[in-house]
Amino acid sequence: MTVSIVCSAALAQPLTRADAEARAGDLVALGRRLFFDPALSASGRQSCASCHDPRFAYGPPNDLSVQFGGRDLRRQGHRAAPSLRYLQKVPQFAEHFYDSEITGEDSADNGPTGGLTWDGRVDRGRDQARIPLLSPDEMANASPAEIVKKALAAKYGSELRRLSRGGVFATILEALEAFEQDEHEFYPYSSRYDAWLAGAASLTRSELRGLELFRNPEKGNCARCHPADRGANGTPPQFTDYAFAALGVPRNGEIRANADPAWFDLGLCGPDRTDFLNRPEYCGKFRTPTLRNVALRRAFFHNGVYHTLREAVAFYVQRDSKPIEPRFSDLPPQFWPNIETDRPFGVKTPVLSDDEIDSIVDFLGSLTDADARPVHAERDRSRSPAR
Ligand code: HEC
Ligand code: HEC
Repeated sequence: MTVSIVCSAALAQPLTRADAEARAGDLVALGRRLFFDPALSASGRQSCASCHDPRFAYGPPNDLSVQFGGRDLRRQGHRAAPSLRYLQKVPQFAEHFYDSEITGEDSADNGPTGGLTWDGRVDRGRDQARIPLLSPDEMANASPAEIVKKALAAKYGSELRRLSRGGVFATILEALEAFEQDEHEFYPYSSRYDAWLAGAASLTRSELRGLELFRNPEKGNCARCHPADRGANGTPPQFTDYAFAALGVPRNGEIRANADPAWFDLGLCGPDRTDFLNRPEYCGKFRTPTLRNVALRRAFFHNGVYHTLREAVAFYVQRDSKPIEPRFSDLPPQFWPNIETDRPFGVKTPVLSDDEIDSIVDFLGSLTDADARPVHAERDRSRSPAR
């Protein structure tokens, strides 16, 4: 009895500032080891890094639309794995978001904003990390206890125990969150575009033209949702306003769940997110991703429907000028009113020529961080089939 009181009292004891700082650094190091440890999956073969590979700015290393996971690595997910870089400024999810810096107006309501994952359903890295660890389509552990057991048996087990406050599983999640906030690893701002903004590098003629088209409201109008300029206080551009939008990207036949014509991933209004199931005005909306490191990707948009950056950019130009039939195939017609219609959409003549699309693609290439593995979007076209 006495012992247990002493124990919990010791746990609850606040750390001194120096101890808290030391613990924060140790958590980052522990989080790194957890992140790369395949032993934490039911298959024993999948770590966080399998889908979020540091060589690809912590995005997927292949051109599958969506990744495989589960006990036998044969279960397919239904969303593209995002890069984990540049998430540090994603605000907590809010239904109404007022930001004059982004909207350029006083207290203009930007609608729903922020939160992690494509539908913003969690706010903190620690809450997010539970999802893949326990999802039957991903790392597929049956319970937190199973994860704790494996982690304590790992080489870093004693370190995990030493750092644990308020439960070992909570500390695992806390360490993963701490690692994801490591500045050098997750927001290095080492792209050529950052160097150019600082006056320390040049962009090619085509990249500069692409930037101009990206910004121009009469042309790409991309910066409307993917701001390319520094913030008022000099903060580097994040290339997202964190808002949600329905772009009406086509349905992706590579996703097995789509074999059922009645199944739809509606983003904000479900089914993964469950608090807005009865909010039809939110259906089809997904969080605007950053475009930093986008040139490393080979699966674009939430359903990974396109496999080259050029196709992804051309989608914006062609959606309303050269529509693919059937239109808006990944969203039931009653939700079509939610689909974006402002430029670059909503015009019958393409807002960008083929040449201009190429320039925007070139410009987006300047947003790749210096440490990323040089890959060309067109390389490795061989799509590995389901294992
Ligand atoms: C099988 C592939 C896979 C594995 C393994 C995986 N993830 Fe993910 N990750 C995804 C997908 C897919 C999403 C998007 C999920 C969604 O929108 O619902 C995602 C989203 C995220 C996000 C939110 C990103 C954003 O833009 O908001 C974070 C953070 C994250 N994962 C961290 C992790 C961590 C930590 C691990 C290991 C514990 C992990 N992931 C393991 C596929 C994976
Ligand atoms: C109305 C806001 C909006 C505008 C304008 C906009 N985007 Fe996007 N962008 C989004 C949203 C939202 C997504 C994710 C949509 C989804 O997955 O369903 C996205 C996704 C993308 C992606 C895929 C990124 C990834 O990680 O898969 C690329 C590339 C992209 N946008 C480039 C552009 C370019 C280039 C333009 C201008 C021609 C542009 N965007 C204009 C909101 C916008």
